[in-house]
Amino acid sequence: MSRFFSDRYASLVPYVPGEQPQDRRYLKLNTNESPFPPSPGVLAAVSEESGRLNLYSDPDARALREKMAETYGVNPDRVILSNGSDEVLNFAFMAFSDEKRPLVFPDITYGFYPVFAELNRIPYTEIPVKEDLSVDPADYCGKEKKTVVIANPNAPTGRFLPLREIERIVQANPDGVVIVDEAYIDFGGESAIPLTDKYDNLLVVGTFSKSRSMAGARLGFGIGCPDLIRDLNTVRNSVNPYNVNRMTLAAGVAALADAAYYRANCETIMQNREKAAAELESLGFTVIPSKANFLFAKHPAIGGKQLYLTLKERGILIRHFDKPRIRDYNRITVGTKEQMETLVSSIKQILNEQGGQK
Ligand SMILES: Cc1ncc(COP(=O)(O)O)c(C=O)c1O
Repeated sequence: MSRFFSDRYASLVPYVPGEQPQDRRYLKLNTNESPFPPSPGVLAAVSEESGRLNLYSDPDARALREKMAETYGVNPDRVILSNGSDEVLNFAFMAFSDEKRPLVFPDITYGFYPVFAELNRIPYTEIPVKEDLSVDPADYCGKEKKTVVIANPNAPTGRFLPLREIERIVQANPDGVVIVDEAYIDFGGESAIPLTDKYDNLLVVGTFSKSRSMAGARLGFGIGCPDLIRDLNTVRNSVNPYNVNRMTLAAGVAALADAAYYRANCETIMQNREKAAAELESLGFTVIPSKANFLFAKHPAIGGKQLYLTLKERGILIRHFDKPRIRDYNRITVGTKEQMETLVSSIKQILNEQGGQK
């Protein structure tokens, strides 16, 4: 820390993203990226748009907001775009929370929520998930004047709350904003976006990083009633009106136009997920039922950290969280069929070698 660093941030513990190692080629199953490249339409759009990089991007992102509106059946004034969904989450915390409207989220959830809360000096309460790592909707009802944040499906567990439970939470908090983070919704969940027409306190956040293979382009969005979106734009325009670059805006439009390509990829991921889950279970793993593009699993014979480190030595990266309650688990991104076969056969070997050592 320099002697100039503001006291305001001196105790801030930043979010630690999953490893992006450059030392060797790994089978990367640690950051929930898509194993599939962007669609050909996206590649062409990015290439074409790159010739206009001398010009700022459209601060209103009109073309992409219109395409989003058409895709999701909402008005363009209900859509805000962001530099990854992390950015719109931060804007939402800034816009809708403070000492008088603290945050509430589960103790086991996306690790950026407490970081954004600390960054913005917003008090927060972490509500313990149940023993089976599921979120109990009753815990989020009647949270008077608090801002509730729910990742659905949740990360890193993959557990999903049905839409009626999300609606129950939204209805039970009429005086607070409910933020539903749907980063993984396209892998078998049901989106709350249609509910944003009915409730003025619901903000749904989404991303192009997972199901649309655009993690490196950084494109996220928020959908909610026009007043909520206006507030978010007040914050956005006070930070960076050009928050989404030209190539990413063009890529977003093309990705939405190539919906069939991405739907097919999601189907493949879901099939690979179910197959890998069954195989891991047959090896003795406890696997949390997942509606995301990852699995959360633990094995009685090998600790979470040990499995993570042993796989890493063998060139496979998965994600271990050294956190109370979930230390025994690892989060494994679902990749291609071949990638999952490599993973399962490496784990089989590791378990055999372990058994041999006993
Ligand atoms: C639950 C959840 N929300 C949001 C994000 C952020 O995604 P991005 O900023 O890439 O859109 C992630 C990323 O892993 C996530 O797991």
